[in-house]
Amino acid sequence: MNQTAASKPAVERRVALVTGGIGGLGTEICRQLARARREVVAVDLAARSERVAVFREEVADFDGSIRFEPADVSDFDSCRQLIARVEQQHGSVDILVNAAGITRDASLRKMSPQQWHELMRVNLDGVFNMCRNVVDGMTERGFGRIVNISSVNGQTGQFGQTNYSAAKAGVHGFSMALARETARKGVTVNTVSPGYCDTPMVAAISAEIRAQIIADIPVGRLGAPADIARAVKFLAADDAGYITGANLPVNGGYFMSF
Ligand SMILES: NC(=O)c1ccc[n+]([C@@H]2O[C@H](COP(=O)([O-])OP(=O)(O)OC[C@H]3O[C@@H](n4cnc5c(N)ncnc54)[C@H](O)[C@@H]3O)[C@@H](O)[C@H]2O)c1
Repeated sequence: MNQTAASKPAVERRVALVTGGIGGLGTEICRQLARARREVVAVDLAARSERVAVFREEVADFDGSIRFEPADVSDFDSCRQLIARVEQQHGSVDILVNAAGITRDASLRKMSPQQWHELMRVNLDGVFNMCRNVVDGMTERGFGRIVNISSVNGQTGQFGQTNYSAAKAGVHGFSMALARETARKGVTVNTVSPGYCDTPMVAAISAEIRAQIIADIPVGRLGAPADIARAVKFLAADDAGYITGANLPVNGGYFMSF
């Protein structure tokens, strides 16, 4: 039987905030959440104004359901002000996806303290800064979905990435701890751990190493941003309330565990 629009169950109005929202994975996460009829706010650095302009064109056909707000996730006050602005303009934040991330690769013997700290400030402090500023509102309202983007390299470790692997493993430890603190308040906290995806972050790897990586992926290809975004959408859904503190690997079989 065909369902008419009128007979379809109403989708709860939800505001979703995606950090790193104009990036390779973030853009597709924004699109898929908007298709699930979420009001989406893409958060990213104001300094990336050229990319912001392109992003606005890319999401123009979403009829204003994807907006851009600048913030620096490594700065606690910037995150606090962001949440205040979003709550004033769009309403309470129901879904938070932390996808902002950077790499500062070097073997440990060559890694400078600056490379270590810069990465920690974005990839780990950024998750704290955002969660800390949305968690009270979510628990007070009795609903929230937090999805933190970790990485397969946080599970396996990667040469030249002591900083990145430590931060990404830390993201999952953080998520499990926060999941325990919020479980009885209707707020779930999970991680998605992508494998190697077809994004600018991976395009920056040399062609030779990239070919070797693809040869090691059982599915035989890099992940598409849509593969990751679908996992995020699944965990961010209203009816995913019994999944919390979990890590969802999306890596084409590159690393299997249980
Ligand atoms: N691409 C992959 O293969 C892959 C694999 C595993 C995990 N990841 C993770 O997925 C997430 C998204 O990766 P991506 O491939 O889309 O990378 P990307 O570089 O395309 O996007 C990251 C975004 O984060 C933004 N950002 C950086 N610092 C920020 C800050 N201080 N405040 C706000 N925004 C900031 C960047 O401007 C960029 O738009 C990252 O956390 C990354 O570590 C990516």
